[in-house]
Amino acid sequence: MKRNILITGGAGFIGSHVVRLFVNKYPDYRIVNLDKLTYAGNLANLKDIEDRPNYSFVKADIADLDEMRRIITENHIDGIIHLAAESHVDRSIKDPFTFARTNVMGTLSLLQAAKEYWESLPEKYEGKLFYHISTDEVYGALELTDPQGIESPFTTTASSTEHHHAYGRAFFLETTKYNPHSPYSASKASSDHFVRAYHDTYGMPTLVTNCSNNYGPYQFPEKLIPLFINNIRHRKPLPVYGKGENVRDWLFVEDHARAIDLIFHKGKIADTYNIGGFNEWKNIDLIKVIIRTVDRLLGNPEGHSDSLITYVTDRLGHDMRYAIDSRKLQRELGWEPSLQFEEGIEKTVRWYLDNQAWMDHITSGDYQRYYEDMYSNR
Ligand code: NAD
Ligand code: TYD
Repeated sequence: MKRNILITGGAGFIGSHVVRLFVNKYPDYRIVNLDKLTYAGNLANLKDIEDRPNYSFVKADIADLDEMRRIITENHIDGIIHLAAESHVDRSIKDPFTFARTNVMGTLSLLQAAKEYWESLPEKYEGKLFYHISTDEVYGALELTDPQGIESPFTTTASSTEHHHAYGRAFFLETTKYNPHSPYSASKASSDHFVRAYHDTYGMPTLVTNCSNNYGPYQFPEKLIPLFINNIRHRKPLPVYGKGENVRDWLFVEDHARAIDLIFHKGKIADTYNIGGFNEWKNIDLIKVIIRTVDRLLGNPEGHSDSLITYVTDRLGHDMRYAIDSRKLQRELGWEPSLQFEEGIEKTVRWYLDNQAWMDHITSGDYQRYYEDMYSNR
């Protein structure tokens, strides 16, 4: 079947993996990548597929309603996978307005443009889909208690024995009440509500998925894992917020992209799916795994980079624990993560070490200013 699919934010971290997967897997689909190319957007992430006949790129701002109308209409778009967003919590604490503009007004503009175009067609909403990519952070924060939660149902996420998979009894379910704390998660929660409102009010076929923290190649080095790999490489301090006890639930980005593909094609309209690998780590434990892996791959003696760990002032309103229950996705659509965490981390560290030019390009210029602004007063 031929389809015309708009992927927003395709020059970013997760978006670039989704674009690559769709362009490679579906030669009959026309994939239009729409991205504003903010500091986080980088067309070098898509070098390997940029010349494919079923791929095109358009530079645009999702908050520009007229542009969204034009692009959706001219490309006869019948499916939208919406990833474009401001995505970094620390930046949202410094500049919440940009987050409201892109994440809320941008999503609303995209919804409205799709609505107008699809309602103008004879078949209306038939065969159409607006798929919105969201985060587990909209659910708020979980408590850190005894590790007596759900055991991972996935054999692939079984990890080393020293590591627990759960740091509490409670998990985020699809039915968990929204309770965002940061300007980032508040803006994502708001956009999720608008997406559902367009289904409930106008009958637009929509879907929302909420995923846990992603890691892997092409992630901007403001996020924990690429930042720390790069700092170890340059023997720079590793700024651990607070006591390093916060817990995040980590998923390899290609597993998220595979879930998006599955849900785009088989997901139930108007439904919500949580995506996560039952793979919780305390920041400090994860950081030790990163240090060990980087040192080993660089040929440094064990413990060589431990002294780079530097405890700094905590993030304001720092959510203690995120943990996704993704059993609905496993049960209904048969999705499972493909990798053990240690394998994923090894692959990821190797990729950043092998792609130093990609990293150097990104960390030149504006990045230095960002880094000083974010870390000099901690
Ligand atoms: P990212 O910051 O790496 O990429 C975002 C992309 O959106 C960039 O290419 C940027 O140029 C583009 N963009 C930003 N503002 C835009 C605008 N106004 N118009 C058009 N394009 C714009 O983010 P990511 O980590 O790849 O996240 C992608 C999506 O997945 C986001 O919606 C995020 O909320 C969600 N998500 C991320 C994670 C994670 O761990 N990274 C987890 C769950 C959900
Ligand atoms: P991050 O990658 O920013 O993702 P998120 O805040 O969306 O979960 O951060 C992951 C965890 O690592 C989070 O608990 C904050 C912590 N962190 C640090 O300790 N130091 C850092 O320099 C960064 C960027 C994050």
